[in-house]
Amino acid sequence: MDPEEEERRRLAIVESYKVVCICNKIRRGVIQRAIDDGAATIDDVRRRTRAATGPCGSKRCGPVIQRMLRRD
Ligand code: FES
Repeated sequence: MDPEEEERRRLAIVESYKVVCICNKIRRGVIQRAIDDGAATIDDVRRRTRAATGPCGSKRCGPVIQRMLRRD
């Protein structure tokens, strides 16, 4: 594997460990896996991961999850 590819993979792993839903401590990788497995709406993501079900009412994580669903 070339060094650039290795660096891209390393950054992707770091990114996947970032917490998106602070209320429930749900990491980006967990949410991305749910989307890759077919979650198409924020409600789908809620049911599969518990993200966006915390006391903030998804005010903090909702916009990030919406961007992930749009694949921005
Ligand atoms: S940060 Fe996700 S519900 Fe509050």
